Amino acid sequence: MITKDQLFEALKPLIEPQYNKSVVELNLIRDVLFNGENVSLSLIITSEDEAFKEKAKSYISQTLEKLGAAQVHVRFRLMTDYERNQIGNNDGAPAEQSKSTQPVQPPIDQPILGETSTVEFIAIASGKGGVGKSTVTVNLAVALARQGKKVGIIDADIYGFSIPDMMGIEEQPKLVDNVIMPVEKFGVKVISMGFFVQDNAPVVWRGPMLGKMLRNFFNEVNWGDVEYILLDLPPGTGDVALDVHQLIPQSKEVIVTTPHATAAFVAARAGAMAIQTNHEILGIVENMSYYESKDGSKDYVFGKGGGAKLAEDLHSELLAQIPLGAPDNHISEIDYSPSVYKQDSNTGQLYLEMAAAIINKLEK
Ligand SMILES: Nc1ncnc2c1ncn2[C@@H]1O[C@H](COP(=O)(O)OP(=O)(O)O)[C@@H](O)[C@H]1O
Ligand SMILES: [Mg+2]
Repeated sequence: MITKDQLFEALKPLIEPQYNKSVVELNLIRDVLFNGENVSLSLIITSEDEAFKEKAKSYISQTLEKLGAAQVHVRFRLMTDYERNQIGNNDGAPAEQSKSTQPVQPPIDQPILGETSTVEFIAIASGKGGVGKSTVTVNLAVALARQGKKVGIIDADIYGFSIPDMMGIEEQPKLVDNVIMPVEKFGVKVISMGFFVQDNAPVVWRGPMLGKMLRNFFNEVNWGDVEYILLDLPPGTGDVALDVHQLIPQSKEVIVTTPHATAAFVAARAGAMAIQTNHEILGIVENMSYYESKDGSKDYVFGKGGGAKLAEDLHSELLAQIPLGAPDNHISEIDYSPSVYKQDSNTGQLYLEMAAAIINKLEK
């Protein structure tokens, strides 16, 4: 069995051509996962230099096979501007050093909500439950993190706090110096109402409690250094959704629907509310768009066109069409999570593209 340390040690001689430094020292090896004797990892590349990719792939495979890996899977991902800046700031310092010079955590009394806050809030909304709002929240957050962003999730859906379960989070948040630390998984910091509410608390109590708690999620949680916070809102246009609109006037929104005409019609109400409260709609995600058979043909199980129609009605754009199909995850995996699509799966790629489109929209 190879360890992570052995893997990093062995890959040190691989030099990144642009920086002329070791890929390990530049911290370009990411997402290392062991699955039995198999290893998969991502290599961040500075350009689509096919010759380097070829060389890197065979070097990594051969080196790790020598260490005892049965199969080696290497994914490539282009460096984001943010990562480029980070390397620039560290002047290509070795990984050990860059770890110790982590960004200073803003003190907790510097609220992430204030006018000086640079955090981008994205509320994920839908007209009704069961369309995949939480699934989209989780996977968009993970995809943003996979692109090098610092991401948090606030699970504010009082009717079902599903985010921890969907991500396979088993811990509870810890208190450090009387401040709540979010639980981190797949590089995403998570705070869920579910951490604080007894499962059997009646829903009628949750509404008023949530309003208060939401405030605490901003003020009494140490989010540290975070660039994006995604909010999983309750479906519809109830009090909580309204609270969020008032609490975070700068929040933007992504609206989730299925292709079904009725779903899109109800989702339009959530969209109308966003417009009324001056929340910019970043786009529409059409989930469960179609079922793709093994032969590649698409079966539009829930009808067609709901997402596009909604985008048109709201003068927004269709960000993605996500097919039907659960993630191909197994309980035996190290980082098991029922709802997170793997980066190299079809759907995982769709989420990466969606994240890139959103980054592009917000950071240009
Ligand atoms: N694209 C998809 N393909 C298959 N199942 C999905 C897909 N998206 C969501 N699901 C499943 O549908 C159910 C509802 O999704 P969820 O994200 O909980 O919806 P919501 O938060 O809108 O209520 C969950 O069991 C989820 O795993
Ligand atoms: Mg949900």
